[in-house]
Amino acid sequence: MNFENILCTRREGLAIITINRPKKLNALNKQTIEELHEAFINLEDDISVKVIAITGSGEKAFVAGADISEFANFTVDNGGKLAAKGQELLFNLIENFSKPVIAAINGFALGGGLELAMACHFRVASDNAKMGLPEVSLGVIPGYGGTQRLPQLVGKGKAMELIMTAGMITADKALASGLVNYVSSLEELMPLVEKLANRIMRNSSVAIGAAIKAINANFKDGVNGYAIEIHEFGNCFGTQDFKEGTSAFLEKRKAIFPGK
Ligand code: COA
Repeated sequence: MNFENILCTRREGLAIITINRPKKLNALNKQTIEELHEAFINLEDDISVKVIAITGSGEKAFVAGADISEFANFTVDNGGKLAAKGQELLFNLIENFSKPVIAAINGFALGGGLELAMACHFRVASDNAKMGLPEVSLGVIPGYGGTQRLPQLVGKGKAMELIMTAGMITADKALASGLVNYVSSLEELMPLVEKLANRIMRNSSVAIGAAIKAINANFKDGVNGYAIEIHEFGNCFGTQDFKEGTSAFLEKRKAIFPGK
């Protein structure tokens, strides 16, 4: 499929999705959300892809939010549907994706942009990045999971403050509060993501998919995470990756995982 608003490139097992609306600071409009959905569905089936990174084009923004021009005239009904559709099509899809998804935050990550980064499995930021959920300054609240995922990552008090003040925090502050895992220069951002991706790719992709399910279970209402962990742990014993991983250890050689 040809995309208008995103670019998909590959560096071996790492697929890089770049949101490409630099004149609008990569704001997430409906079409971009649909294209991202489509891209993720394609990547799920591509067995050569082991890790996915999302970034923004240009040097100024990762994503400066949902596209405000698209919802300025919305009704109550339209607003609810916008949030529900976006969460289902993209944000929940990424959070529950079976392959690791890393956000490479290369500038402003505001509103829906920070929510997109928070739906990813973890985040790396460049030192020029600024992050925030400024929705209350527009008379609305985060609708793509921000009120749920921000407290999970930084704690309730810090999330309350960031959302209530509609403020922005620097990359260093985001690092200190656990919102991002690393901060680098802008030039070093993608090399760092590649380094992390390469480390991940040495391991069993099946086990990583199981770990994602078990970790996510900790944050789902009505789900017993320990029970999910037991189930996923047990399943690993039936995989070829487990046979290979344990045999390689006992034979003192490097494992070559078949990913099955
Ligand atoms: N939705 C739609 N368009 C957006 C946008 C968004 N969330 N964020 C930026 N843009 C557009 C601007 O309208 C502008 O378009 P124009 O050149 O056609 O007028 C262009 O991107 C550049 O933005 P600009 O505001 O001129 O850049 P800046 O450097 O002065 O300011 C920001 C950068 C990020 C501080 C500012 O763009 C901003 O506050 N954006 C909105 C952030 C926000 O509230 N996001 C949450 C949405 S729910």
